[in-house]
Amino acid sequence: MVRITENANITHMTTFGLPAECGRLIEYSSPADLETLYDDRTLFSEFIQIGGGSNLLFVNGRYDGTVLHCADKSVEWLNEYSENPVMLCGAGLELDEACRIAAEKGLWGLENLSGIPGSVGGACVQNAGAYGVEIKDVLDYLEVFDNTPGEGAIHTMDCGDCHYGYRDSIFKQPENRTRLIIAKVAFALSTRPNPILAYKGVTDELGVELPLTPQETEAITPSDIRCAILAIRSRKLPNPDSTGSAGSFFKNPVVTESCYRNICTRSGMEPSGHRLPDGNIKLSAAWLIDKAGCKDFTRGGASLWPSQPLVIVNSHNATGEDVYHLCQHIIATVENTFGVRLSPEVVFI
Ligand code: EPU
Repeated sequence: MVRITENANITHMTTFGLPAECGRLIEYSSPADLETLYDDRTLFSEFIQIGGGSNLLFVNGRYDGTVLHCADKSVEWLNEYSENPVMLCGAGLELDEACRIAAEKGLWGLENLSGIPGSVGGACVQNAGAYGVEIKDVLDYLEVFDNTPGEGAIHTMDCGDCHYGYRDSIFKQPENRTRLIIAKVAFALSTRPNPILAYKGVTDELGVELPLTPQETEAITPSDIRCAILAIRSRKLPNPDSTGSAGSFFKNPVVTESCYRNICTRSGMEPSGHRLPDGNIKLSAAWLIDKAGCKDFTRGGASLWPSQPLVIVNSHNATGEDVYHLCQHIIATVENTFGVRLSPEVVFI
């Protein structure tokens, strides 16, 4: 099914809930629909893709071009009764719904990603991650439509083909944004217990200590971890049903050891962060924002979430411009204080 709406209101398609309109909205529900759109040459003009709308900011409230949205929320199983079932999802399925279905079947892999807003397709563009797991750790393969003139076909891309990094992938490169369209997402799940509990707070929530005994490992279920993660998130992050946001607005900046020492000298503080295997340090953007004194900043109806200042929220009838100006003010203040430039995770349209 292809549905085309001219001058569509797409506010409800974004998790921020800011006023947003586009010149043309194209909704499709299967890979075959993409072939039809390709044959009609509809996909050859400029367009942007919207998944769960959890990472886009329509700054001026309007995008004159075409917005492409996948409405395919299907779930199919491959090797369902084996030790390693594959869950094949339509790109439009909510990631949290995929996490719920997998956990309820007792399957391991997606439980730590519970509660992340957005679609599975968008999560694969972004390499969404939380509590020690990223999409790349669970992704088996993608079915991707190649929109290059002269191609127009579905290809399979293995996880390794996607060049995943921290909130980064091949799909974020400008030349691929309208070239590659993720249609299906295959998650590699497992019946074998594999609790990932290293992230601070998760073990406390479960009432266990590391290392787990073999009996404890056997007793914990993916649903237990999903419940623990949802409980932690509900304390720290806004409830997506009542408060609009895009999750983390900024990425945690990665700096070299010498840059870290410069930041300490300049600010007289030791920023919170952790060392990566390559020796660089991933700083906590929430800490930098907090210590730079930005927590109470507001612009119009946009403000920061008190318990997680990495999240900009639509506190009352904010506009895209409110969020944009608040973001710029935070970037400038953090840079003046620490000499580190935050970069938004959110894409400005
Ligand atoms: N902090 C402050 N002041 C505050 C609140 C927090 O200094 O007012 C400090 C805390 O002390 C802590 C840090 O900020 O050191 C918060 O760290 P936490 O591990 O809770 O989260 P994060 O690093 O800020 C990342 C992801 C989240 C993900 C969590 C949990 C990014 C940009 N964000 O946030 O992802 O849920 O870890 O794994 O990597 C998202 O991408 O949308 C997202 C929510």
